[in-house]
Amino acid sequence: VSKCQKYIQLIIFHPLNVKKEKLFFCLFRSSDLIQRALMDNDFMKHLEHGQILTIMDCMRPTSLTKGCCVIQEGDDGSTVYVLEEGMVEVTKEGKKLCSIGPGKVFGELAILYNCTRTATVTALTDIKLWAIDRQDFQTIMMRTGLIKYSQYTDFLRSVPSFQSLAEDVLSKLADALEETRYSDGDYIIRQGATGDTFFIISDGQVRRTRRQAAVKTLSKGDWFGEQALKGEDVRTASVTAVGDVTCLVIDRESFKQLIGGLDDGSDKQHDSDEVKAKRQAEADFFSSVS
Ligand code: CMP
Repeated sequence: VSKCQKYIQLIIFHPLNVKKEKLFFCLFRSSDLIQRALMDNDFMKHLEHGQILTIMDCMRPTSLTKGCCVIQEGDDGSTVYVLEEGMVEVTKEGKKLCSIGPGKVFGELAILYNCTRTATVTALTDIKLWAIDRQDFQTIMMRTGLIKYSQYTDFLRSVPSFQSLAEDVLSKLADALEETRYSDGDYIIRQGATGDTFFIISDGQVRRTRRQAAVKTLSKGDWFGEQALKGEDVRTASVTAVGDVTCLVIDRESFKQLIGGLDDGSDKQHDSDEVKAKRQAEADFFSSVS
């Protein structure tokens, strides 16, 4: 049973003669406030909706009286807060940085960056807060990281061109990938420019144009920017987004480390036949890039 469901049960079975509508109203007003606060925070606004809901579910209410120190600069951080009611003041080395009012997140920096508290936060009035423990917060962030990782591995496995890659290479590739989004008309790479990244289209379409060559449209599962694999660093074509596009991007160094020695079989003499066959399949595949 989630925390939210527990609160609802608490309200339904509340023994006191209180107006239940009022309690429900408070619950939903609070969750709305937490959601807005998370989405308003520069460091959290890119969280996925599912992540926000899980964070909201793990938050517990707490209150402190005027003058209390909520966070002490230099301490280890154990909690991220959303202010629901009242005001707090943020100071650093005794100097005031700002005051914070309801609907704001604070105490996120030490947890997100694994550093000590960057400032002191003191209650200027009696305050009501929602708090989430470091452990819960980090688990939610990590779990989403793991989900992304398994989505990338599944996607790579589904691309025919990548099916010949060994399982451990696919996993490492998924680990090294960065997801990048583009809008219609954006240049992803420009002919003549230097570049050392390799792109796999995970969603949408791109247009590849090359001087004196036909325009080619590439879509989900196709890839480009293969010069990064061959040691060249000048782009031989331009690639632009057609509509919204998502690419999985990998840099030359990561790719070399993972696929390593595609063109050079000299130090692979001691590999087993199976490994040699796998390497050959990978080499054939990557050298067949037009
Ligand atoms: P953290 O470092 O975990 O604990 C202190 C918090 O104060 C910090 O996270 C931020 O949430 C907040 N904080 C630090 N510096 C500023 C600032 N310049 N303006 C607003 N809030 C800040």
